[in-house]
Amino acid sequence: MPISSGVGGEGMNLEEYLEEIWRLCYKFMEQFPGHDMDHVRRVYENCLLILERETGDPWVVLPAAILHDIARGKENHAIESGKMAEKLLKEIKYPEDKIPRIVRAIESHSFSGNRRPLDRESKILWDADNLDAIGAVGIARAFLYSGANGRGIRETIEHFKEKLLRLKDMMYTETGKEIAKRRHEFMLNFLRELESEL
Ligand code: NI
Repeated sequence: MPISSGVGGEGMNLEEYLEEIWRLCYKFMEQFPGHDMDHVRRVYENCLLILERETGDPWVVLPAAILHDIARGKENHAIESGKMAEKLLKEIKYPEDKIPRIVRAIESHSFSGNRRPLDRESKILWDADNLDAIGAVGIARAFLYSGANGRGIRETIEHFKEKLLRLKDMMYTETGKEIAKRRHEFMLNFLRELESEL
C-alpha cells in the first residue's frame, strides 16, 4: 500500500500533510540545538522501514515520528510534545480521527517517561526512536551528549549499562528486534574494546 493512499479532511493527501508537518517541525525545533533534526529524520526513516515490512497506519506513525520531540528541552518532553502536536495538527486540519492516536504514540515514546506503548503505532514509534539510541549511532550520540554535559568516558559507560544495553530486549516489532540485535552486538564489542584500552 503506498503511504500516500487516502485523503484527509481538507482533501489533502498524506504526502501534502507530511510536507506541512515537516515545515512546522523545522520551525519549532530550531530552538533546541541539542536535539537535532538529524535524529528526527533517522527516526522517520526507521518508521518507514518498519512500515514497509509490517502493518501500521502511516497516517498515525509518520506525523508522530516528525513531531515526537517537538517540545524537547521541556520537562516531561513526551507529554509536552503530545500536547503541542495535537495543537499543530488541529491547526492544519489533519484528519480528526487520527490525532488522538498520534498523541498517544508521542506520549508513550520516552524511555524515561512512565508510559509504555500499547498499540501498534505507538510500538513502531518506540522502536524507531530507541533504535537511534543504540549501535554506532547510539554510541556517537551518547558521547556527544556526555561531552555537552561535562561527563567523561567512565560515566558514559555507566549510561550504556543503565539504559542502552537494555533496549534490545524492549523492542516490540519484528524489524526492531532484528536491527536491535545487530546494533547491540556492536555496542558490546565496542565496550569490550574500550574497557581493555582503558
Ligand atoms: Ni527522539
